[in-house]
Amino acid sequence: MAISTSLFATFLVAAVASASPTAHVLSPNVAARLAGNSSGESPVAYQCGPKTANVTCINRYGSFLPPSFSRDPDPAVGYTGTKVPDDSSWELVKQADFVLFDKKRGLEILGPAPKIHRGIISVLNVIHEAPVYVPELNKLFVTQDGPPGNLSILSLDLNNDPPTVSLVETDPPIYQPTGGLYNAKDGMIYYAVHGNNASLPGGLQQHAGIARVNPKTLKAEWVLNNYHGFNLAGPNDLTIDDVGDIWFTDTDYAYVLGVSESPKQLQLSTWRFRPSTGQIQIMDTSLSYPNGIAFSRDGRTLYVTDSGLESYSPIPTRGAGDFYNYPINLQFNSTGPRSIFAWDVARKGHDGKHPVITGKRVIFQALEGAPDGLKVAANGIARIQTSHPVENIQWSGRDLKTLWLVGVGGITKVEFNLAGPDLAHYYNGGR
Ligand SMILES: *[C@@H]1O[C@H](CO)[C@@H](O)[C@H](O)[C@H]1NC(C)=O
Ligand SMILES: *[C@@H]1O[C@H](CO)[C@@H](O)[C@H](O)[C@H]1NC(C)=O
Ligand SMILES: *[C@@H]1O[C@H](CO)[C@@H](O)[C@H](O)[C@H]1NC(C)=O
Ligand SMILES: *[C@@H]1O[C@H](CO)[C@@H](O)[C@H](O)[C@H]1NC(C)=O
Ligand SMILES: *[C@@H]1O[C@H](CO)[C@@H](O)[C@H](O)[C@H]1NC(C)=O
Repeated sequence: MAISTSLFATFLVAAVASASPTAHVLSPNVAARLAGNSSGESPVAYQCGPKTANVTCINRYGSFLPPSFSRDPDPAVGYTGTKVPDDSSWELVKQADFVLFDKKRGLEILGPAPKIHRGIISVLNVIHEAPVYVPELNKLFVTQDGPPGNLSILSLDLNNDPPTVSLVETDPPIYQPTGGLYNAKDGMIYYAVHGNNASLPGGLQQHAGIARVNPKTLKAEWVLNNYHGFNLAGPNDLTIDDVGDIWFTDTDYAYVLGVSESPKQLQLSTWRFRPSTGQIQIMDTSLSYPNGIAFSRDGRTLYVTDSGLESYSPIPTRGAGDFYNYPINLQFNSTGPRSIFAWDVARKGHDGKHPVITGKRVIFQALEGAPDGLKVAANGIARIQTSHPVENIQWSGRDLKTLWLVGVGGITKVEFNLAGPDLAHYYNGGR
């Protein structure tokens, strides 16, 4: 239940699959004693910022903690689950809605009246993914990963407060997309669809791939479902670059979650697909589980998260049927990959549009869980912690300052000053 800011020059928001921290209530005198101490390195934390939420600032990024501190290496234990027995101000971190490491930038991002709304929409205890905001309809579409065979997508009508929720199915149905993007250029939602079930209702057959959906009519059509005859393992998330190519990550979560019948046939990779010609090209094979994907606003930097921290080996979950009780036999390997990587993007080739990515570097390591969906904000960076694991995020509203966090068993709404990019003018002509 915390948001933290840091000093990255890049403007990223990553959803991390994290465990829920326990809320602790401070006794009033502890809170009063700690309130307003904005200087020095001790205590570690102090109250700061607007009163519309509990905002906690952390001195010097908490880089020195009393030596009795400890943290369980289990990535499911959140940052707030750190034990700091010799500094009672740590209680402020545990009960915070927003935690700021860089106070000045953090307060700018929070704005005058930050608010977090938890549990306003009741959902199944399954993974929610691919939040897509369609401005013309003022609707947020959210997919659900499970249970096997379920084809419904949640539609949240944001013209009402709280939003009215309905279930929709596309025509033909697409089976459990995990990533989605609204393309303002053609008014279609592009989905990374990892479900692959040869025995869907009505004899429907589907391979994992990329489909696009008209949000007004819910008509769906496939644009990609193989690589030269090989099954894709399960496109997980996608983005569209400044020349109109779709970049997507491929993972085999669908197989281990029991919503795909085919094991992976190729190395898990990051790919580029050009819808105008149908050409598909491998871009990177170096990540263990390439997951969230986004470009900087000038189109010159590519970001991809690696969620390799999560392991399912030896595949215990296939067909487990335990979709209402996540995480299903999910294992975390605390020393496994859990970082966001960046690359420089250059354009070469006969048409000057052929991408070449170089200069891979790691830019962030998740504080808990594994990094999942990734979006670039208009004006800042935030790490947001909720009371449920978050798989992906999306902004909505006229000013794009409402952020929706969707994940396992929960949808959380945050109102603050961190704005989403206007997707109709995402690329700002850096090239
Ligand atoms: C505030 O921080 C200062 C500087 O480290 C410290 O000496 C002081 O004890 C703190 N005050 C309170 C009320 O915690
Ligand atoms: C801040 O946290 C305290 C203790 O949990 C709670 O009583 C209070 O309502 C919270 N304030 C806001 C604005 O949420
Ligand atoms: C499919 O998902 C919808 C929406 O969450 C839910 O109402 C329905 O019960 C689910 N169907 C099954 C068979 O679980
Ligand atoms: C495939 O679909 C059928 C019918 O909806 C469902 O019963 C089954 O569990 C699904 N299998 C997998 C592996 O998703
Ligand atoms: C955990 O991940 C690291 C780094 O990828 C790897 O070397 C190690 O073998 C993994 N451990 C287990 C138990 O899977």
